[in-house]
Amino acid sequence: RKAWTVPMLADAKRDGRKLVMLTAYDASFARTMDAAGTDLVLVGDSLGMVVQGHNSTLPVSAADMAYHTACVARGLSKALLIADLPFASDATPERALDASIALLRAGAAMVKIEGAGHKLEVIRFLVEREIPVCAHLGLTPQSVLRLGGYKLQGRDDATAAKLRSDARAVAEAGAALLVLECVPTGLAQAITADLAIPTIGIGAGPHCDGQVLVLHDLLGVNSGHRRPKFVKDFLAEGGSVAGAFAAYGEAVRDGRFPDAAHSYD
Ligand code: KIV
Ligand code: NA
Repeated sequence: RKAWTVPMLADAKRDGRKLVMLTAYDASFARTMDAAGTDLVLVGDSLGMVVQGHNSTLPVSAADMAYHTACVARGLSKALLIADLPFASDATPERALDASIALLRAGAAMVKIEGAGHKLEVIRFLVEREIPVCAHLGLTPQSVLRLGGYKLQGRDDATAAKLRSDARAVAEAGAALLVLECVPTGLAQAITADLAIPTIGIGAGPHCDGQVLVLHDLLGVNSGHRRPKFVKDFLAEGGSVAGAFAAYGEAVRDGRFPDAAHSYD
């Protein structure tokens, strides 16, 4: 098994190999998932909820992200490390550049940005400066105040068409990967077919090029929040933490996860 690099993402999509992604926030879990064959490890700003105990991701700082990214980086040898640009750290291209430099210096190979709109300029600005970018569309948790909660996105024709054009736009702006969160299965399938870059789904059905779950959700560790439909506890079937990571990876690669019970139609 070779260590992942950014250009290998497009190769995987072309070859039809599913990408297995999990979130991690520390070196020990990162090491365990790396050993279990997890392809991509995301230091998500979900750490604001599952590690820090906030009820949204908004309080997470760029310094928090850099700290956890450095911790996770020490645990990885093969997986590609992606780190979230937290709320407001990507409000302008210049701020995003500073925050991204800190994440890359901490060991990330790619930064993740929520949204399109004015973020397209930010994506272009970073990519032109040799910083690989993962886009994130659909339910973007940093938009929770505007959205009024964590809900399925792209349910009607107009919002679905907008999501589809936003997906084309982030790829056009230079994103090398796209996370789709909480969108109907058919829409995620259409977006995945539209793009040459891989899509990674979470609550986006089985047709994405890969899947991501939050570590705590996969292990059935309750964060005090309502459990979304797409969450599956793999600890039960895996028998151990390492077994849960392996079971999740196999289920994603075999196309058994997510099934209809863990997707939206
Ligand atoms: O912060 C996070 O964990 C994420 C994933 C849910 C995609 O952005
Ligand atoms: Na995130």
